[in-house]
Amino acid sequence: MKPRVYAFANQKGGVGKTTTAINLAACLAEAGERSLVVDLDPQANATSGLGMRANGTSSYDLLDGAPLEELVKPTAFDNLFLVPSKPELAGAAVELSRHDDGDRYLAQALEHADGFDFVLLDCPPSLGPLTVNALAAADRVIVPVQTEYYALEGLAQLVQSINLIKTRLNPRLEIAGVLLTMADGRTRLSADVEAEVRRHFGELVFTAVVPRSVRVAEAPSHGLPVTHYDRRSRGAEAYWKVAMELVERR
Ligand SMILES: Nc1ncnc2c1ncn2[C@@H]1O[C@H](COP(=O)(O)OP(=O)(O)O)[C@@H](O)[C@H]1O
Ligand SMILES: [Mg+2]
Repeated sequence: MKPRVYAFANQKGGVGKTTTAINLAACLAEAGERSLVVDLDPQANATSGLGMRANGTSSYDLLDGAPLEELVKPTAFDNLFLVPSKPELAGAAVELSRHDDGDRYLAQALEHADGFDFVLLDCPPSLGPLTVNALAAADRVIVPVQTEYYALEGLAQLVQSINLIKTRLNPRLEIAGVLLTMADGRTRLSADVEAEVRRHFGELVFTAVVPRSVRVAEAPSHGLPVTHYDRRSRGAEAYWKVAMELVERR
């Protein structure tokens, strides 16, 4: 069976793409779904956040035509696998744009991902060739949005890019949902931003909201998803709810 492929995209940095990708992957894996995270950000935060090192082969090799099965590494967590990133991946962005079909390299590389139930693509903070490759390869996009002033800024451009890629490269592509992250339930601002995002995107917004939580921020420095670092924390609970919604929306 073909896996369901999700891209985590937003050209803004620091909105929770990586955090969401690794924590949803951890939830899905713990629920018994064979899950593969492909780290497509040269900063390799998903790689380190899953307790792995950015050395050896990487997603750079995947885009260079190496077979997926040679690049997939098991993590310390059952059912959870990773194609790591490393800084050299930044160079791939330039090389990809030199080839006519450079937008489809990742889609081609993932054609043989049959052994997985879910593939999660962690994108860099730009709409450059790496993100375009992810959107060309994905069935669904998840758009994490930080619950702060200017949350909607840039989202029109992102939606436009998604529609363009859908028309030009990947007719399957749909937005699975917009996820509010780093929400501070106590502040008026957070509530206002949440209301505004829900007014704008309606049903596309996940019901579950990820709260701002020290435990979520600490977890990657231990190389652990928050669902393993502190499974009773509000952050872990929120990501479990999001994972359940995701499976329901499937
Ligand atoms: N819910 C949260 N609560 C507190 N800190 C968070 C939360 N989500 C993410 N962070 C922290 O915010 C920073 C940016 O998150 P990250 O997932 O790396 O964003 P992106 O991948 O979009 O750049 C990281 O330091 C991360 O640990
Ligand atoms: Mg990131």
